[in-house]
Amino acid sequence: MTRMLVTGGAGFIGSNFVHYTVRHHPEYEVRVLDALTYAGDQTSLAPVADQVEFVHGDICDAPLVDELIAGADLVVHFAAESHVDNSLHNPEPFVRSNLIGTYTLLEAVRKHGARFHHISTDEVFGDLPLDGTEQFTEERAYDPSSPYSATKAGSDMLVRAWARSYGVAATVSNCANNYGPFQHVEKFIPRQVTNVLRGTTPKLYGKGENVREWTHVDDHNAAVHLILSQGKIGETYLIGSGDERSNKQIMRLILELMGQAPDAFEHVADRPGHDLRYSNDSTKIRTQLGWRPRYGDFRAGLAATIDWYRENAWWWGPQKDATEARYQALGR
Ligand code: NAD
Ligand code: TYD
Repeated sequence: MTRMLVTGGAGFIGSNFVHYTVRHHPEYEVRVLDALTYAGDQTSLAPVADQVEFVHGDICDAPLVDELIAGADLVVHFAAESHVDNSLHNPEPFVRSNLIGTYTLLEAVRKHGARFHHISTDEVFGDLPLDGTEQFTEERAYDPSSPYSATKAGSDMLVRAWARSYGVAATVSNCANNYGPFQHVEKFIPRQVTNVLRGTTPKLYGKGENVREWTHVDDHNAAVHLILSQGKIGETYLIGSGDERSNKQIMRLILELMGQAPDAFEHVADRPGHDLRYSNDSTKIRTQLGWRPRYGDFRAGLAATIDWYRENAWWWGPQKDATEARYQALGR
């Protein structure tokens, strides 16, 4: 058995990763480390609670991290402050968790010799023009726009430096926008779906022309598992479905799938510094590791996600009021 420590395993992608690992990879013994911030929810792990060990703690807590990594063969690092709008309002927790937290993990990994996989985002590259077909590649220079993406870029750089200077056995992946169950209602798709379910008008930033590449969370996690088993130490892999859509297209699709009129949304103030378009060239992971997205039909994946939110109001209900109160304060 490989002893795996998953940081941020009570968050959106991390909890789906734990579910995926328990379902498909019995060769791993899973322990989760999560601080249960506003974005972490231990109930997301309830269906697998008997099969994983949960530790409530902070990745910046060096003695705790040292103890946990001393007992791990592998660390998969999801824990982060993850929402751009929050980072614009208050960057401090982003600097702390994303930079100091990653540094703290790397120091323990360096000491104990565990393998490290760092989960990152395509947002480290900045953005692309709206009208074009250019894509990010693994070689592209970093050019982050928001405090969120700047701290993620910094954490990627720390991982690369610890790999090169100290020989830490690390890999990095930068994935495009994820969707699926257990995503916090502050994020675009769950916010609009739960607005419709609550009878609140969905909110589109600015003109809604910004483009994102939407990848199902299980496809992301399958890619991470391929990197863990076959990835080359020291390498970076970009992950993305290739399915690019404007926010307005997504909004209209959600409304259609939920039986609403196509214009049943409102435009709200745009996000400052709003990145225009993201698009990952995922040729490397497709050709070298044989990764293929299984959720090729975005419409079907979105419909299943909407059904999940419809059936699991017990999970998202408690987050909704506080989230909308935060948005109201931002005028969005
Ligand atoms: P999330 O906000 O849903 O979950 C983050 C989790 O980390 C929460 O459970 C939270 O409690 C935990 N956490 C935060 N700070 C911590 C700390 N100091 N110590 C311990 N735990 C802490 O985030 P997510 O959307 O699941 O993203 C997970 C990772 O994937 C992040 O590193 C993010 O940058 C990256 N990523 C996200 C997306 C996306 O579309 N959501 C896309 C690409 C990459
Ligand atoms: P988000 O889910 O916050 O992901 P990211 O900013 O990391 O890509 O937002 C996705 C897109 O949706 C982004 O262009 C901002 C936009 N958006 C809205 O139009 N309305 C909303 O209520 C939210 C939360 C986001």
